[in-house]
Amino acid sequence: MISVDDLPAVNAVLNATSGLLLVAGYIAIRKRRVPLHRALVLSALGTSVLFLAGYLFYHYHAGTTRFTGVGLARTIYFIVLASHTILAMIIVPLVIVTLFFALWKRYDRHRRIARWTFPLWLYVSVTGIVVYLMLYQLYPAA
Ligand code: HEM
Repeated sequence: MISVDDLPAVNAVLNATSGLLLVAGYIAIRKRRVPLHRALVLSALGTSVLFLAGYLFYHYHAGTTRFTGVGLARTIYFIVLASHTILAMIIVPLVIVTLFFALWKRYDRHRRIARWTFPLWLYVSVTGIVVYLMLYQLYPAA
């Protein structure tokens, strides 16, 4: 059985999976494989939603986790965390708009906005993994 304490690792795997699906979706559209692109980015979206649900569930039950690193590690951690959090809020409406332009078949507009959505979403995904590794693996609470 998965306990609440296992959730950060599960969430990190979901987040990493979402990032990989996103990159695969990008490669697919560069090769003009539209149905594959659609399937991969919608799967990335699905895993991101699961991640968000797991993240909110964990923090509702476990509260906040203190970062125990000091010095340069602490500075790096908070810079990564701040940029991750701000962009995570920005990509939510960006992903929705990108998706709707695709579903409305407004592919010109879809491509224009997706060129921002894709790298920002990927940044949020990768920094999510960095935050997890620093907080739970490199500098775990005593
Ligand atoms: C929010 C999720 C999505 C993201 C992040 C995304 C990302 C992208 C990116 C980055 C491009 C531009 C690639 C380039 O520079 O050449 C693109 C193009 C495209 N996407 Fe998506 N996409 C998403 C959802 C979808 C969906 C659901 C469809 C449905 C069919 C779709 C269909 C297309 C098509 C047809 C193009 C080519 C547009 C053109 O070159 O005129 N996308 N997408």
